[in-house]
Amino acid sequence: MNLYIKNIAQLVTCHGSEAKHGKAAMGDLHVIEGPAAVVIREGIITFAGSQQDVPRGETAGCEELDATGRCVLPGFVDSHTHLVFGGYREDEFQWRLAGDSYMSIMERGGGIASTMRATRTESEDTLRASALRHLTNMMHMGVTTVEAKSGYGMELETELKQLRVVRQLQELQPLDIFSTFMGAHDTPPEYKGRSTDFIEYLCREVLPVVAREGLAECCDIFTEKGVFDHAETRKMLTAAREAGLALKMHADEIVPFGGAELAAELGCLSADHLLQISDRGIEALAKSNTIATLLPCTAFSLKADYAPARRMIDAGCAVALASDLNPGSCFSASIPLLFALATIYMGMTVEEAVTALTINGAAAIGRERQIGSIEKGKKGDLVVLEYPSYKFLSYHFGMNLVSHTIKAGRIVYAK
Ligand code: NIG
Ligand code: FE
Repeated sequence: MNLYIKNIAQLVTCHGSEAKHGKAAMGDLHVIEGPAAVVIREGIITFAGSQQDVPRGETAGCEELDATGRCVLPGFVDSHTHLVFGGYREDEFQWRLAGDSYMSIMERGGGIASTMRATRTESEDTLRASALRHLTNMMHMGVTTVEAKSGYGMELETELKQLRVVRQLQELQPLDIFSTFMGAHDTPPEYKGRSTDFIEYLCREVLPVVAREGLAECCDIFTEKGVFDHAETRKMLTAAREAGLALKMHADEIVPFGGAELAAELGCLSADHLLQISDRGIEALAKSNTIATLLPCTAFSLKADYAPARRMIDAGCAVALASDLNPGSCFSASIPLLFALATIYMGMTVEEAVTALTINGAAAIGRERQIGSIEKGKKGDLVVLEYPSYKFLSYHFGMNLVSHTIKAGRIVYAK
């Protein structure tokens, strides 16, 4: 698709093809004040800059979009979701509001196990239709790339079913999906009390099929006290790396558990959650290439303490923000809520939040060279706001400010 976006009031480029670490880099959005323009040809950005510099002939044959009074940013990257699942857990949510804890519900056989039962029995058609609804909502909020995890099967057939649904979704709608195998989400009832045996089963019987069929690019695990320990995490992620997958970890979510340190040591793409990260964990991530992916909507939903974003950024971490959409701990993929929580409760500046949802989100899925910024050679994934400055993303809180979502140069959503 060829598209010429002109008269842009403010062009937020987030220039760069690497994760941004620390306050100075995360705070610099490389803004070009308008009138600015972007040209996308065959899905790829061929020009981004001041309108007066658009080369003659560059816009020939392009569809035009007039962005007068509007801010344009890179499309948002939601780098952590549990997109495909069966059933809902609306009762659990009410129990938690009344004081029950996430882990005690899980220990009683609810939580992830409850969604596992529903996902095992659900048809592919139903799983797909539900995920598609979420993807459409995300697209309307400016998301152009989504990570999606399996992990509600915890046995071969259902894990493959979830991952196949992800593959089908890629063909059915415009957003790019990065697929992650997360068989090690919890120990299923068949292996109750035998979590290490379960990890061995995953490594022996599930991971090789996932890798052979090319169903996932990455492997994730819930490393947490009472779920999977360090030795099990090493076993799972080492096998995944040998099978050619990138690595991620749910780390330090409920209690401090040294997860961030382990993620840095194993060279994970990202360590996610980090509500309970230790000072040593912060230091380890700051020195590594592992992205610290924070999920404020989950902390909000669990009524937990937010991850120490300010301390992490000041220490030099590369922070990303993502939704964690799932039917239990966070049944929301709201980008407006994410901006509000990050900037009002977590001490992040709006510039840092934008970096966290664009170039750093891209780095959290290893795609920082293809997406996450608006510059020549990158994919034409953009979001247009109905306001003239990115600052409205925190100021006009809780509202969807997106007027257009553009995917590879095609307008896929217009308000
Ligand atoms: O990221 N913490 C583990 N996994 C998910 C929750 C999954 C669920 O509750 O269904 C999370 O919060
Ligand atoms: Fe998660």
